[in-house]
Amino acid sequence: MTIVGFTLNGVPVSSDVKPRTHLGDFLRDGQRLSGTHLGCEHGVCGACTVQINGAPARSCLTLAVACGGAEVTTIEGFDQDPVMADLREAFTAHHGLQCGFCTPGMLITARDIVLRFPDADEQTIRRELSGNLCRCTGYVGIVNAIASVIEKRSERTEVPTAGVREPAMAFATFEPVAPTAADPRPVPASTHAAADNTALRPGWTRFDETFVIRKPRAVVWELFNDVRRVASCLPGVEVTSCDDSSVKGRMVTKLGPISASFAGSAMITRDAPNWSGTIVGAGSDGGSGSRTRGEITYKLEPINQDEATRVDISVQYNLQGPLAQFSRSSLAQEFARQLVTRFAANCSAQLGGDPSTTATNGSLHVGGLLWLVLSAWLKRIFGRSP
Ligand code: FES
Ligand code: FES
Repeated sequence: MTIVGFTLNGVPVSSDVKPRTHLGDFLRDGQRLSGTHLGCEHGVCGACTVQINGAPARSCLTLAVACGGAEVTTIEGFDQDPVMADLREAFTAHHGLQCGFCTPGMLITARDIVLRFPDADEQTIRRELSGNLCRCTGYVGIVNAIASVIEKRSERTEVPTAGVREPAMAFATFEPVAPTAADPRPVPASTHAAADNTALRPGWTRFDETFVIRKPRAVVWELFNDVRRVASCLPGVEVTSCDDSSVKGRMVTKLGPISASFAGSAMITRDAPNWSGTIVGAGSDGGSGSRTRGEITYKLEPINQDEATRVDISVQYNLQGPLAQFSRSSLAQEFARQLVTRFAANCSAQLGGDPSTTATNGSLHVGGLLWLVLSAWLKRIFGRSP
């Protein structure tokens, strides 16, 4: 058992929880907050959606022990919220529920849509709602209810702004790690000075990573300029065509029950005097109907008299469609972190540098990577591997 403390519906709570208890069970069984419903418990249906640090999140995919210090709000915590009051009324008026099983999660996502997209049209509402499934209503009433609240708010001269936020990583607290002689592997260390300090775009998620390759900067720069070589270092990425400034390809990835194959293209610009570059791209997954846009900036800095190179990477992306909720979960951030770790190791191996790193052939070893993600996540929480 581990003691965890966080703010639940505005009230501090502290409790002993088992390491593998997810937040949904903790809320329902430990706190008697049965408004949070559990459906699939695989992150698919959205019935268990709660708000963590201002962003909707799947409570079935969140370990209770990972919530230390967080602000968690369940459907019960929105009793006095004016936006939720409008939504409850609208769901009733527009027949936005039948059995009500999906309704708590639906309302929390709906509130997020209303606050983040004050001009949302039907298409936007349906897209943002696509992570919440309803087996009864056919969605028409739900969409109409949300649209009516958006319209009502736009007619008011003053609208409540409490709760408006920019989506951000919920628990992106990676500790900076410096390479040591004892452990010379290229290790990612995020929250480093980013390659680029551009502001976070509304609705986008950003993470910054840093890793070290034990080769001079010019050698690493040459690798980064070779699109096919650098793509082969990214697990799951396959380049179908490329030239100096553009690339087309696909990325296959799988997380739990969700698999996606994003096909897309990107433009590459390089700033040689500053040893930096930018990749701007977009892609879509035909299977799930999810779409993503993203921008990666990188900068190379020499360290140890140019014996090694520090690579600062900043990634901003926007994910829309059924996979959108995963882009803001701590598990997704850990997944991205592990991807960068693999990328760093593969770059090093490509350059024939570090024998302790292992190159992959460009395919994503899903099971292994997922295990790495969970392992690292739990290790940070408990200070040991599962
Ligand atoms: S119960 Fe969590 S997404 Fe279905
Ligand atoms: S109202 Fe029954 S699942 Fe949505």
